[in-house]
Amino acid sequence: MATFTLPKNSKINGNGTVHKAEGAARVKRFRIYRWNPDDGQNPRYDTFEIDLDNCGPMVLDALFKIKNEIDPTLTFRRSCREGICGSCAMNMNGKNGLACTTAIEDLPGEVRITPLPHMQVIKDLVPDFTNFYAQYASIRPWLQTVSTTPSGKERLQSPEQREKLDGLYECILCACCSTACPSYWWNSDKFLGPAILLQAYRWLADSRDEMTGERLDELEDPFRLYRCHTIMNCANVCPKGLSPARAIAEIKKLQAERQA
Ligand code: SF4
Ligand code: SF4
Ligand code: FES
Repeated sequence: MATFTLPKNSKINGNGTVHKAEGAARVKRFRIYRWNPDDGQNPRYDTFEIDLDNCGPMVLDALFKIKNEIDPTLTFRRSCREGICGSCAMNMNGKNGLACTTAIEDLPGEVRITPLPHMQVIKDLVPDFTNFYAQYASIRPWLQTVSTTPSGKERLQSPEQREKLDGLYECILCACCSTACPSYWWNSDKFLGPAILLQAYRWLADSRDEMTGERLDELEDPFRLYRCHTIMNCANVCPKGLSPARAIAEIKKLQAERQA
């Protein structure tokens, strides 16, 4: 059996700080991954006790409370606070999700929070999306056409054609799915992963796009598309209820139809 050893400086040491919520009646403990590239220290878990009677209901509320009242150096991304921007994606009690739409009461026991798995960490809960965004750019995520329309303006769709984009356009590029995918963990340099493949299918499914052949040529590769082995973690974690696995299956079907 293969064994793996983590680099020395990535091992979590046991010297985390514990912040108590003295006098609170309803206490919830959060164990949060901390790593600062500037202090030369290994990562650690800090523990923060939160008074639930004095905190909003979501995990993001707890993170704000910690940052505002206990440790202003705690670093995480967020913007919309309503599940639209995708920036607060992180791993909570072993499952990827959005901190702003995950209720604290739905997480039993002590809540362990880490950055999205298998991404380089920039600081604390902030992962490096450089590769993810480069892969997104590689599928040319915009409408590509060669023809002109009679009006020279709009490209019309029937309601049925528009419906084909349901379940695809809602993706907020949070990367919860890609970072839950074992194939992506091991081959993220070559496999596009579920999020980007769902986006690729979003354009293949668009009746107005005229680059279907070229898009499929780009994806016809043992790694970029075919590293998906239908493990389905992606569909299980998507906070928007989407199924990247289904989109990937549709791309494979289009490839098979071309070759038939
Ligand atoms: S279905 Fe494919 S993309 Fe989704 S988690 Fe499994 S291997 Fe990854
Ligand atoms: S498919 Fe779902 S989990 Fe994946 S990036 Fe899009 S919204 Fe996030
Ligand atoms: S803050 Fe925008 S999705 Fe959570």
